Amino acid sequence: MSRIRHPELAAKVMTAEQAAALIEPGMTVGMSGFTGAGYPKAVPQALAARMTAAHARGETFRVRVLTGASTAPELDGALARADGLDLRLPYQSDPELRARVNRGEIDYLDIHLSHVAQYAWFGLFGKIDVAVIEATAIREDGRLVPSSSVGNNKTWLDLADKVIVEVNRWQPEALDGMHDVYYGTALPPHRKPIPLVNPDDRIGEPYLRCDPSKIVAVVETDAPDRNSAFAPIDETSKRIAGHLIEFFRHEIARGRLGPQLLPLQSGVGNIANAVLAGLREGGFRGLTAFTEVIQDGMLDLLADGVLKSASATSFSLSPAGIERFLADIAFFRERIVLRTQEISNHPELVRRLGCIAMNGMVEADIYGNVNSTHVAGTSVINGIGGSGDFARNGFMSCFLTPSTAKNGAISCLVPMASHVDHTEHDVSVLVTEQGLADLRGLSPRQRARTIIANCAHPTYRPLLEDYVERASRDSRGKHTPHLLGEALAWHQRFLDTGDMRP
Ligand code: COA
Repeated sequence: MSRIRHPELAAKVMTAEQAAALIEPGMTVGMSGFTGAGYPKAVPQALAARMTAAHARGETFRVRVLTGASTAPELDGALARADGLDLRLPYQSDPELRARVNRGEIDYLDIHLSHVAQYAWFGLFGKIDVAVIEATAIREDGRLVPSSSVGNNKTWLDLADKVIVEVNRWQPEALDGMHDVYYGTALPPHRKPIPLVNPDDRIGEPYLRCDPSKIVAVVETDAPDRNSAFAPIDETSKRIAGHLIEFFRHEIARGRLGPQLLPLQSGVGNIANAVLAGLREGGFRGLTAFTEVIQDGMLDLLADGVLKSASATSFSLSPAGIERFLADIAFFRERIVLRTQEISNHPELVRRLGCIAMNGMVEADIYGNVNSTHVAGTSVINGIGGSGDFARNGFMSCFLTPSTAKNGAISCLVPMASHVDHTEHDVSVLVTEQGLADLRGLSPRQRARTIIANCAHPTYRPLLEDYVERASRDSRGKHTPHLLGEALAWHQRFLDTGDMRP
C-alpha cells in the first residue's frame, strides 16, 4: 500500500532539491528528530548543498534550526559543514556542529527539553517559517503517522507557516499505533491538569494533525536512522551500576521504595545501559520507565518482564536493537508509548509520578552542584537535554560518572563546578565507581565530607580533603566554605598542563 494515502498530498511529491528550494535564507525551520531518530534525512542535505552553492557565489545562506533534540550527520553535520546555521536549539551532539559552536561561529541555545514547545508558543523564537518533519506515512485524512521519534513535531506542525513532510519507507509501518500525541496543552492561564497518572496511560491520539493546505511538499525517502552500535558495558560502568542498585535495595529495605521502585528515567550511554542490565540481573520485575529515550537495554527488560512498560519520546536503538524490535513489534507496541517531548519530560508529570532520574554528568563539586554540559566551564559537549526536567522534579535525582576522565588527568569531583546545570538543591545522589553519596538531608559541609569520602578517586581524595580543611579554616563564610582564589585552580591547571594533578 502507498505510504501517502491522501490524494492531494500525493500530488505534492517532489524531490528533496525542489523541497529545499522552498526554504529561504534567514528562515526559522522546525525539524523533527530526537537522539538520532526520526530526523529528516534528505531535505537538510539538499538544503546544505544549496547553502554551499550560495556561499560559493559570495551570498550568505544561513537558517535557524530548532529540533526535538540531537539528530545526525545528515542534518546537523551537513548544515554545520555548509556554514548554514545561524542558531541551533535545543540540543546537539554532532562533532562538527559542536566544534563550530565552541569556536563561537554558531549561536546555540541549550534549553530544558520540556521548555521548548512552550517557549515556541510564547513566541520567544520568533515566527516558525517552515517545518520539516519525517513521518512513517500520511493517512487518508491527512494526519501523519509519526516515525521513530515524536519530539517537538506537534509544535512545529501547529506553528509553522509551511510544512515539508519526508515520508520514510525505512520506518516500519507497524509503528502505527505506538504514539500518543496529546492535544490538551495550553498557555497560561488556560492550563488544565494533564490527565496522566500512570506512566503508560494513553491520553491523546496516535497521529499528528496537520492542515493539508499547509503542506507544500512531500519527499519520499528510504534511509535508516543513525543507529549507533552500543559499546560493550565496561567495568567502570558496571561498578557504578552496582552501587546504585545496592542503594535501591537499601531504600526498599528501609521502606522508602517499593519492590517496583518508581518510574525510571535514564539517560543514554554506557552507564545507563549498565544500570538497566544490573536491574535485570538483580531480579527486579514489573518496573516502569517514564523517560525520554528507549535504548536497546530497555527492549531486553521489556522482553523479560523486568520492565512492564516504557514511556518515551524517541527510540535510540543499535542496528541489532532495530532487528530485535522489528521481530517482535506487536509485543513492543503493547508496552511502549511514544509521546511529544513536552509530555515525556513534563515537570507536572515527573513530579506526580515520582520519577527516579539517572543521568550522566561532566563533574560535580564537593557541595553537590552538577555540571552536565561544559568542559572547564567554557566548551559545551552536548547540552542539558532532559536531565534538568527530571532532576529538578523527580522523586530522586541521581548523577553518575566515572570518578576521573582522560586517563585520570581530570577529577570529576572538583572543589567548585566550572559550570552549573543542576544546583545542590536538585541533586539527591552522586555515584562513581568508587561509591555512592546520598546527599538528601545533609548540610553543605556534611555533603562535602560524604562526596569526598564516597565518590572521589583515591588520587584526588587527599587533595579535596586538604582543600576543604583549609577552606573550613580560612573561608570568610563557613556555611559553604570556599577559597575563591583557588576554587577553579584545578581547571586552570588542566588548561595549562593537560592535567589537574599538581
Ligand atoms: N572534564 C572534561 N571532560 C570530561 C569530563 C570532565 N569532568 N567528564 C567526561 N568528560 C569527557 C569524556 O572524556 C568523554 O570525552 P571523549 O568523547 O573525548 O572521550 C566525554 O566527556 C563523554 O564522557 P563519557 O565518560 O564517555 O560519558 P557519557 O557518554 O556518559 O557522557 C555526558 C557524559 C555528561 C557528556 C552526557 O551524559 C551528557 O551529555 N549529559 C547531558 C545531557 C543529559 O543528561 N541527558 C540525559 C537526559 S536524555
